[in-house]
This record gives sequence, C-alpha cells and structure tokens, in this order.
Amino acid sequence: MTTPHNIESVLKENRVFPPSEAFSQQAHIKSLDEYKALYKKSIDEPEVFWAEQAEAVHWFKKWDKVLDWNLPDAKWFINATTNASYNCLDRHLTGPRRNKAALIWEGEPGDSATLTYQQLHREVCIMANVLKKYGITKGDRVIIYMPMIPEAAVAMLACARIGAPHSVVFGGFGAEALKERINDSGAKVMITADGGFRRGKIVQLKPNADTAAEGTPALEKVLVVQRTKQDVSMKEGRDFWWHDERKTVSDKCEAEQLDSEHPLYILYTSGSTGKPKGIQHTTGGYLVGTTLTTKYVFDLKDEDIYFCTADIGWVTGHSYVVYGVLSNGGTSLMYEGAPDTPNPDRWWDIIAKYKVNILYTAPTAVRAFIKWGDDWPKKHDLSSLRLLGSVGEPINPEAWMWYYNVIGGGRCPIVDTWWQTETGAHMITPLPGATPLKPGSGSLPFFGVDAAIVDDDGKEVPANAGGKLVIRKPWPSMLRTIYKDHDRFVNTYWSEVPGVYLAGDGARRDEDGYFWIVGRIDDVLNVAGHRLGTSEVESALVSHPAVAEAAAVGRPDELKGQALVVFITLKVGVPPTDALKKELRDHVAREIGPIARPDDIRFAEGLPKTRSGKIMRRILKDIAAGAQVKGDVTTMEDLNVVAKLSASSGDE
Ligand code: WTA
Repeated sequence: MTTPHNIESVLKENRVFPPSEAFSQQAHIKSLDEYKALYKKSIDEPEVFWAEQAEAVHWFKKWDKVLDWNLPDAKWFINATTNASYNCLDRHLTGPRRNKAALIWEGEPGDSATLTYQQLHREVCIMANVLKKYGITKGDRVIIYMPMIPEAAVAMLACARIGAPHSVVFGGFGAEALKERINDSGAKVMITADGGFRRGKIVQLKPNADTAAEGTPALEKVLVVQRTKQDVSMKEGRDFWWHDERKTVSDKCEAEQLDSEHPLYILYTSGSTGKPKGIQHTTGGYLVGTTLTTKYVFDLKDEDIYFCTADIGWVTGHSYVVYGVLSNGGTSLMYEGAPDTPNPDRWWDIIAKYKVNILYTAPTAVRAFIKWGDDWPKKHDLSSLRLLGSVGEPINPEAWMWYYNVIGGGRCPIVDTWWQTETGAHMITPLPGATPLKPGSGSLPFFGVDAAIVDDDGKEVPANAGGKLVIRKPWPSMLRTIYKDHDRFVNTYWSEVPGVYLAGDGARRDEDGYFWIVGRIDDVLNVAGHRLGTSEVESALVSHPAVAEAAAVGRPDELKGQALVVFITLKVGVPPTDALKKELRDHVAREIGPIARPDDIRFAEGLPKTRSGKIMRRILKDIAAGAQVKGDVTTMEDLNVVAKLSASSGDE
C-alpha cells in the first residue's frame, strides 16, 4: 500500500470521572492498581492467568493444557469438558440461588413473568427433551426465530444442554434473511413463535417462518411457542405447538459433557459485502469470557437486578442477556417490546417497577431518549440504578453526559464496552470500581486483551495517532471460524495485518492508554487529505442543543476528494432553518476545526438504521452522492426513511 492511511482523530474531550470511593469499595475490582496488576499478569503469563480465572466456570473434567495457538487457530482448555446450560442452571440449584429469579420478563402489553433458577431449569430440560424427540443430537444445528419472551432463552439453553449449536435469527428479520440462515446452517429444526408484540403491533413470525421453510429442504420440524394467539397455519407433520409437545416428554434431562471446543452457537453478522458471516463460538472459552466480563465489567452481585435491552438476536443478547448473567447466577430482566410503547418512558417505568440496578443499552437508544426529552425519565424514580452500560457504537460525549446525569443521576459509572460479535465478550471497557471514565472512550483493555493501534504496515503508532485497531494475542471467547468458510475467516480477520486480529475499526490511543474508537475503517472519511472519523463529526454535532442525532458521510468531490455531508435529526420542536444550518456548520468548525466544517447539511426526520440500531452510512453515502440506493437493505429498520431522504435531498 502506498498511500498513507493515518486516521486523524480530532475529538477533544477532557472531562474525567474517577469512580466514587463508595463504588470502588464495594466493587469486585477496587482500584486502577488492582486492574493493572491483574492485566499485567494476564499479558505476561496468559496461561497461568486463564487457568486461575477459568475456575469461575464449572468443568466436568479439567483441561490438559490451557491454550493451543496455531495462528489464526486457537483452542482453549484442551480436553476439558463442560456445558453452558449446566453452568447457567444446574450449578445454581444446590444452594439458595435455586429460588432466586433467573429471568424477570415483561411483555410489551404489560404482562409479566418470573422464572426462578429451578423453574428455568425445568423448562430447559423439557424443551431439550422435545428436541431430542425430533432426533436432534450433539452437533445438529437448530434455528431460533423468536420474540423477546422467556422461551427464547429457554430454547438457547435447551440447545446448549444437548450440544446442538443454535443459530438465533433476529425476530425483526424477514423470510428471506431467515431462509438464507436456515440453509447456510443446515438446521433440521426451527423454534419459533406465532408472533411477538412490538410497538403495539404483532410481528408476524410464523408467517415469515412458513415462507422461509418453503425454500429450506433440510428443515424437518418447527416447534411453535404461542405468544400472541393470532391465527396461524400449522403444517401437519412439520409444525408442533410447544404447549402440546411439552406434555409428551419428561422434565429430566442431563446436560451433555461437551468438549471445551464444542461449538455453542453460530450467529450471523453482516459483512461489508457479500452474504452474512456465520460467526462460530465454542463452549469453554466463550463461557470463561462471558462469565468473567459480566462479573467484573457490570460488577454483578447476587442481589442485583440487571436489565440489558438488547434483543437475543444480537450477540449482546447472547453474551449479556443469557450466558454471562446466568452463569454468574444473576437476575436478567428481559423486555419484549419497544422503548416508546405505550410512551417514551417505558424503560424508566420498568426500571422503577422492578428496581433495576444495572442498565446496559446502546447509544442509539440514548440519543432517541434525548430527542424525546428529559421529562419522560424525570417522571420516574431511577434511584435504584447503580451502573450504566453502553455498547454498539461510539457514544457521543454529549450523549454520555446526558446518560450520566439524567439517567444515572450523576451517581452511576458508565461502562462503555467495545467488543464485537466476533470477540464474544467485552474487549475494551472500563472496570467501574477502578477506571476513571472519559466520556466517549471505551478506556482500557480487559484482562488478556492485547489491543494496539497500527498503521498500514502493521507498525504500532504513537499515542494519539489514529490507525487500525488490532488484537495481538488470542483470547478465550474469540470466534473460531466463519461457519463452513474458514478461508473467509482467515481473509477477513487475519490477513490485512499479518499475525494479528483485525477488528475493522479505526481508533486512537491517548497518552493515558485509553482507546477511542473512531468508527469502522470503511466509515473513515478523507476530506482534503485529512482522514476524519465519522463519529467525531457526529459527536460535535450532537453536542449542539438543537441536534438529536447526526450521521456524517463522504460525497465524492473533485477538490477535496470527499466533501462532508451530514444528515441531522433535530430535537422535537426545533425548526429546520437555513440559519440553523449555518450555525451548525460554524459549530463543527469551532469544535473540531475548519477542515471538518460540513459542506452540506440535510435535515431528516429519521436516519436509516440497521435493526440493531447502527446507522447505515452506506445508504446515506448513496443518497449524498445523488445515486440510487444500491445493495442489500434487508437489515434496515424502516424502509420509508430512505424514500423520504431521497425526496428531500439536494437543496443546496
Ligand atoms: C462497534 C456489538 C465504539 C464497532 C457488541 C464494532 C463500538 C462493532 C462499541 C461490532 C463501543 C461496538 N464503542 N464502537 N463501545 N461497541 N462498537 O458485531 O464498530 O454488532 O466493530 O457487536 O460495533 O458490532 P457487533
């Protein structure tokens, strides 16, 4: 490569929030020194460190060797046997936790349910036996296409119990996406529901499943949970109701003793091009990673009620609604529906109702709440909260401040956790009793994570210089392959910079060693020779009181290479005037510098987003360039947004 690819990082953020003494004293990791000592050990003597930490997981048989590393193939806890379902359930049944709430669930219409560990264990055993009845054995893949109801977690744990790798397909996906995933995984059984509730409407899961099943020759059986009670068609010999099937099997099912490297699940995630990648995780290493991060990053205690708002269709729902929380014996609160149904205070209502202590959500949600206004959270008693978390995108410092003050009452640390479907567990994150927080930074690497910023030649760059984020050592919860496509695994993650894992994110590391994620490498802009991260421009805009949300993209420009186009949604009640456009341009120029002054500002009612809330900049790029929107939009939340944006564009 000949052109220099240094990424300029221009965000200036000087605020620092050290942990309060009260928080540190009660935390699992109590000081920065304690973190540093453990971190050093994890890097200098990884096998000793991980052997000690792996005691947090139950093993039927211990390992002969901790790590087998043959770049890029890692095996962890060689010849050990364990089971994720056993770790999440059975081992809590011998003491007082057996009567503790494992899952607290609230449905969108206002119904609710609580399952103790004992009850959840029974449900899981019954569903595992139904799967066995369908001929599912160790290694067979099972598709889970469910709303956010307790049976979704039951289904995952039932698969894990018998060693059948699950592949959860997000309930917001349609028939095509579902079909593709069923076929790629070769699943014989699908677990679904008649439907689910979202924004007061029924999500048509069973009709989608029916359409998908027409094109999936390997699929034999469909187990259907009744949730909405709407009329659905049930195909004779293929489709069965869970409430009928559960009566036909025993409620006892031993957990299989599985090899540590046995695949626990495949989760499809979109790449920048081509078909989705089936990210494959294993049992032992994944459990160690999710168990430890849940304990240390969320500082989880037995008495906590923990609410992660992610859907189980995403990796966050896997690692931090189900596996990590239950394996620690924690209480996981699941909510079925939308945050603004019936009103934009539904989450705050839930937090007050159940006295939630830990809230883990995404910046896109935080920005939506900012837009809806402070009055909604202020109507509720949020004083039970003691810790907040963020995941999915860089959190804009102003959104961070709002989250900290308005939701956290200035009292709760925010753990801004950087990680990926591929990494399985948190990688760069504060530890809340130890790490001084800087709004917008994921701060420091978790134990065992050897993260670095490198240039195009793979050389580490000096402090504050931008570059590519890489991980230089294997870690237990890392993906092992892309299902049925090991070459793509090697090419995507291990080839661009030889010898290390390429995360695909641009980042910089400041003089204190804190990591600042600038955005995906392919979102990096090049304006007049300056490489700018989209998130920095967006953060500058979101810091303006009129702006709710902003997305920055490049448009080809003869003079500058790329011109900077930003799409903005304004806070409710702010009129979209030309004067405001000028003011916002000047604001960015003031905040970041004249090179970042947007060339074009477009006001929009909404931005195109994936269903997990990431802004689809690829689509905005097409709109900014005045081109037809191309490519796959099946993951988009609201297709109307594009039509509206295209219609309103080009006013300058
Ligand atoms: C982005 C979600 C900045 C990043 C767990 C990463 C983040 C991608 C953060 C993975 C964060 C996630 N700060 N960026 N705290 N968390 N990202 O696979 O670009 O859905 O590569 O996993 O989200 O998204 P994924």
